[in-house]
Amino acid sequence: MTVGRRSPSRWTRFAAPLAAVALAACGGSQSVMDPRGTGADDLARLSWILFIGGAVIFVVVMALVAYAAFGPTDRRRRLGNRNVVIAGGIAFPVVTLSALLVYGLLVTDWVVGAGEPALRIEVVGERWWWRVHYLDEDGDIAVASANEVRIPVGRVVEFSLKSNDVIHSFWVPNLGGKLDMIPGHVNTLRLQADEPGTFRGQCAEYCGGPHALMAFYVVAEPEERFAAWLEQERRPAMTPRVPFTRQGQELFIQAGCGACHTVRGTPADGVIGPDLTHVGSRLSIGAGILPTNVGTLAGWIADSQHLKPDNLMPSFNVLRGQDLRAIAAYLESLK
Ligand code: CUA
Repeated sequence: MTVGRRSPSRWTRFAAPLAAVALAACGGSQSVMDPRGTGADDLARLSWILFIGGAVIFVVVMALVAYAAFGPTDRRRRLGNRNVVIAGGIAFPVVTLSALLVYGLLVTDWVVGAGEPALRIEVVGERWWWRVHYLDEDGDIAVASANEVRIPVGRVVEFSLKSNDVIHSFWVPNLGGKLDMIPGHVNTLRLQADEPGTFRGQCAEYCGGPHALMAFYVVAEPEERFAAWLEQERRPAMTPRVPFTRQGQELFIQAGCGACHTVRGTPADGVIGPDLTHVGSRLSIGAGILPTNVGTLAGWIADSQHLKPDNLMPSFNVLRGQDLRAIAAYLESLK
């Protein structure tokens, strides 16, 4: 007989893939198990304390229940003693829950925040995308963008969360807890990324239709790079440099895209859909569902209703292939 070559038991065959799936969900760019920011660290620690503490208490209580049911008759009577009931049934829960309440309040205090944040960003939930405004010191809109948030590493960023229609929920699991976006109300959330990275966020409150396809990316980068990016973002869209993208810009205006979208520096000044001034520099289109390139942009314009059913942009499937490519190339050039 060879040692170590036993065929896997039924249990192993069942448990191994299950464990692999469970562990695969622990890391990555959209996971509470992989905290990358100050608030997220605190929340993860609180969660582990609750989880492990709850597990220990559960095991002890189950052991006591078993002892009460099957233990030696004379000894198990002691469990019914008045002092044991007061200590285990009243004193212990009061002390434990009070300590957890104080600790929980201290943790959430950071998230709600005191003191001046380094940057203020307003995010408005829309069906089914994210309107993003970088605010200046006076709270006025300095830069309008969509479906992507850039933040400087190591700085406290305060998010003002709003909604224009129904309740959405803003959640970037690697950086912090989720917070609802409620019509007519402003919720404040602080996040701080402790290292550079790209983190995925997701609408965490069912908001109808393509709710599951309402995602976004948060890009955390060193402060100088962030400042340079914000400076570039403030500028109006670049003028097309080659005839093909110039033609794309003309077609974009002719097709009426400007009724819903803004491209700063052009006649397109619609505010119903995402601002496209620098759409070519964003990681994704369609609110986190496709990478940004000429192919996906053309596909989105031609048949966004197929890619994201019930989203509010009609499919422009009447455009000729050549025209579609020109518009897509123009949008991709808007860095
Ligand atoms: Cu927005 Cu779910």
